[in-house]
Amino acid sequence: MRNFLSVLAVLLLSVAASAQPGHIVLDSEAEGIPVQPTMYGLFFEDINFAADGGLYAELVKNRSFEFDNPLMGWETFGKVEVRSDGPFERCPHYVRLRYAGHPVMFTGLENEGFFGMGIEEGKEYRFSVWARTAPYAEGRKAKAAAKEFVTVHLCDDATMEESQMFASEVLEICGSEWKKYETVIKAPKTCTRATLRLFLETWSEDPQVEYRKDCCVDLEHISLFPVEVFNADENGLRKDIAETLAALKPGVLRFPGGCIVEGTTLEQRYQWKNSVGPVENRPTNMNRWNYTFAERLFPDYYQSYGLGFYEFFRFAEEIGAEALPVISCGMACQFQNDPADHPHAEPGLKELQPYIDDCLDLIEFANGPATSKWGKVRAEMGHPAPFNLHYLAVGNEQWGMDFVERLRFFVEAIRAKYPDIKLIGSAGPYLGGEWFEELWPAMRELGCDLVDEHYYSTENFFERNATRYDSYPRESKTKVFAGEYACHGTDGKKWNHFNAALVEAAFMTGLERNADVVNMATYAPLLAHVDGWQWRPDLVWFDNTRVVKTSNYYVQQLYSLNKGEEVLPLLMGGKPLVGGPESRQICASAVRQGDEYIVKIANLGSYSQDIFLDLKGFGAVSGASVTVLHSDNAVAENTLDEPELVVPVTEEIDLAPCPDPDNYWLYGWRTLEDGTPSLKTKIGGRSFAVFKFKK
Ligand code: AHR
Repeated sequence: MRNFLSVLAVLLLSVAASAQPGHIVLDSEAEGIPVQPTMYGLFFEDINFAADGGLYAELVKNRSFEFDNPLMGWETFGKVEVRSDGPFERCPHYVRLRYAGHPVMFTGLENEGFFGMGIEEGKEYRFSVWARTAPYAEGRKAKAAAKEFVTVHLCDDATMEESQMFASEVLEICGSEWKKYETVIKAPKTCTRATLRLFLETWSEDPQVEYRKDCCVDLEHISLFPVEVFNADENGLRKDIAETLAALKPGVLRFPGGCIVEGTTLEQRYQWKNSVGPVENRPTNMNRWNYTFAERLFPDYYQSYGLGFYEFFRFAEEIGAEALPVISCGMACQFQNDPADHPHAEPGLKELQPYIDDCLDLIEFANGPATSKWGKVRAEMGHPAPFNLHYLAVGNEQWGMDFVERLRFFVEAIRAKYPDIKLIGSAGPYLGGEWFEELWPAMRELGCDLVDEHYYSTENFFERNATRYDSYPRESKTKVFAGEYACHGTDGKKWNHFNAALVEAAFMTGLERNADVVNMATYAPLLAHVDGWQWRPDLVWFDNTRVVKTSNYYVQQLYSLNKGEEVLPLLMGGKPLVGGPESRQICASAVRQGDEYIVKIANLGSYSQDIFLDLKGFGAVSGASVTVLHSDNAVAENTLDEPELVVPVTEEIDLAPCPDPDNYWLYGWRTLEDGTPSLKTKIGGRSFAVFKFKK
């Protein structure tokens, strides 16, 4: 009896201790909720020059002369003519360069790149071009020369030095058959806004001839690529940007959008079949972010599809993420179209079949054997093994019964042929409201595996909604994909800043706590060129040679690197800690990752708080650390010039016991009556802290 009473006393004391305000109890032995490997991922959208001019390493804009204005991005001099009977069926334009008409005049052209070209000292750049010699004059008897010469210059047009040209190479073009020529140029200096200039030479190999008047050459698909790209891939990605994304260790990569999936018209939708095969023959499409905002207009924003579906699958594989392609459901952008104008494919197989085929063929492209029609395309591009696609989203952020009645046909066809593919439907563009309410039951009824929710909202929303998913039905087989979200600050603070990152961190404790409901989450948009953005905030900013990680990036990274394998309960004052006023402005979540226990805490209060972290089930603690993201300036943000204003700081936590455990003011380890180690620590005001403990 005495024993029982003393056990009871210990239990009561420990309950009393852990129920005290300020005590947060992590029960390391509780049954956890599995965290999906896909939990934190990337949403790549071709907005803000994220693809051409961004992640895709090509430096030449309009390399195939396929923009609506075929010479957009180019300046020409001398005699340059655009022609349209080139060697690539889906990219028929090319340029013909002829003798300028006088020996001291020049013929050639210059490409401005994407806001210039980022060229760095000591690095190598591969110039390539499809070319042939051509007859100077038209006519049956006109003959092309056996050889022509083209000089390639890298130029700094803004320099005050004698020469704008700072690197050059000469290409010898032999014969009148189209061939690919290439040369590597090493940069002797850095120029962040370089241009590429090409000259038709009038040289003759005959020493008797000073210059030729019949020089003529045809040029097509003019390209300049850094030799060093991510993973040394052919047709690869800009190394610094790709590495920044890889460092997030994302579980999933959603691509290629966003609204570009839908298109302003169906003709302009993203058609994945146009984005595979040889790059020279991928047709160009106007990007819808070219004209979406009159106040941020980019008439030169097109999609070369150089970064196409093959490259997306390859990148996903390289960074260990599940690929999640999004395919048109036969509906053009609903924001931009009045249904009365019949902009969409009509429901029914008659009009939807080509869109459904695009989905089925895509699955074959990704997963089919190299002998299948589309698997062969993949194999010929260099990846005979399947990409192991598991997820497919049909439609971007569609809404209304118009969507549901079309999606039904896709679900039936895909399920019939590929029952294991997980399908993702949409909850529309908003975080609640009529469309949201009608879509969720409809998506469940259709048997979608996940539903893509989008919310760009205020600080107030993110601060108060760590509990958003607590009330979602847990038994439903249809899970949440928070596919686009970001804090858009109030009071006009619609840019990346520390406070937005902090409230996102607080909100994300709710995603994590509800890992049985939320299986994927991707911040949006991902990338933005500082000179070419249409939408902000964005996770990563860059210019032609630099990349900066936002404070929002660091929040995403602290989650993705510490996502754990299972979520464990946290109690405060004896109740589940879910955020909100009762928890003293603290939002928190905990996971187990191997032998590590990770507690994420966002203190939304203005003042620092003393807390006790009670590690229930720990005999002893063998390692402890804390990583803190904080800025005293709520609107501080990392920029290209000041990239480290807000960065996480990690400290080891001393494991030595508190010298005077009864002294309330002292910090450090104490042992509770039941033997539970308890760490008394401080969480700074408006801070996000990630604690790690090893048993
Ligand atoms: O991320 C910007 C846009 O927001 C996306 O293209 C679209 O899906 C959403 O409306």
